[in-house]
Amino acid sequence: MGNKSAEIEHWLVDVIVCPTCRCSLDTCEEGLRCNLCRSIYRIENRIPILLNEANAREAERMETEEKLFADMATPKPDTAVKWRLAKSFLRSLVSRLVETSHPRLVLYAGCGMDDLSEVVCGPDTKLLNADIVFAAVDRERGPGAYGVCCDLRRPPFARDSFDLILAVDVLHHFAVDGLDEPIGMLAAALKPGGMMLIMEPNVYYLYRLPIVWMPHRLRNLLRKMKRVVTGSRSGPAPHEAPMAPSAIVSILWRHSLSDIETVSCPIYFPGAVGSLLAGFLRRFPKIGNKLAYHFCFLATKAK
Ligand SMILES: C[S@@+](CC[C@H](N)C(=O)[O-])C[C@H]1O[C@@H](n2cnc3c(N)ncnc32)[C@H](O)[C@@H]1O
Ligand SMILES: [Zn+2]
Repeated sequence: MGNKSAEIEHWLVDVIVCPTCRCSLDTCEEGLRCNLCRSIYRIENRIPILLNEANAREAERMETEEKLFADMATPKPDTAVKWRLAKSFLRSLVSRLVETSHPRLVLYAGCGMDDLSEVVCGPDTKLLNADIVFAAVDRERGPGAYGVCCDLRRPPFARDSFDLILAVDVLHHFAVDGLDEPIGMLAAALKPGGMMLIMEPNVYYLYRLPIVWMPHRLRNLLRKMKRVVTGSRSGPAPHEAPMAPSAIVSILWRHSLSDIETVSCPIYFPGAVGSLLAGFLRRFPKIGNKLAYHFCFLATKAK
C-alpha cells in the first residue's frame, strides 16, 4: 500500500481536527491519525474522510443524505427554477465578496453538487468543499478546490482557519439535531474578522405561511401522506425543516458573529398568479424579502 498521506497538502492537515476528540491530526501510512485518541481516518482521492463509520448516528445520516443527494439530480420543475435563480444570485454574491475581501481560504460547508471554484479560486485563494456525502466532494472541480468528507453537525475544523465560510442550504438539515453546536464550531473555525455567509430556506416563504404554525412532527406526517398520495419517492428528510431568520440571528450573536448584514434574496413564486405577486412585492422589498424562498445573512466575526 502506498503512503496515502503523501497525497494531501500540509495546510489541509493543519485546518482539520479529529471529529471524535477535536485534537490535531498527523499523517501516517493509512492516512491520518489523531494525536490524542489515535483514531485513523482514510484518505481517498486526496480527500480526508473524517467520519467515524462505526458511529451509528453518522452512518444513518450518511445514508439518508446520500439518497437526498441522488434525488437532487432530478428536481421537480418548480424547484429547478428556484434553485437556478438562487444559484446565479449566490454566484454573483460570492464573487463580489471574494473580490472585496480577498480571502485566502474559503470553506463551503455542505457543498453538494455546487461548484464555486470558478468564482472563488485564484492564485491566493483556495476553496475547501465539505460534505457528508463522499460523491459530493469527489467531483471534478477547478484548480484550487479541495475536499473533505465529514459530518457538519460537529464540524471538524481547527480554530481560526478560514477567512470566509459559506453555509448554503445546509443548516436546515440540522434543525432537528440542534444548530448551536454546528454554528458555534463553524464560528470558532473562522479567523477574527472573517465572514460567514448563511443562506437558508425561509419558514416564512409566502407559500409556506399556511403551515408555519405546524409542529415539526405534524409537518412530517403530512409530508409522508403527500408522498403516499402522489406516489413520489423524493422530498425532504424528516430531519430537515425550514428555518426562521430570527433563530439563526440569536445563535450567531452567541458565537461572536454580532455584525450581521441582511442580504436580499430573489423574490420568486411559481405559477402565473405567483409571478404577478412576486412582481408586485419586488416594489416593496421590505415585505417581499420577508416572504422570499430564502433568507441570507452575512455575519462578521469580531476581531
Ligand atoms: C440542499 S443541499 C445544498 C447543496 C449546496 N450548498 C447547494 O446550494 O447546491 C445540502 C447539502 O448538505 C449536505 N449535508 C447534509 N447534512 C450534512 C451533514 N450532517 N454533514 C455534512 N454535510 C451535510 C448534503 O449532503 C447536501 O449536499
Ligand atoms: Zn481523536
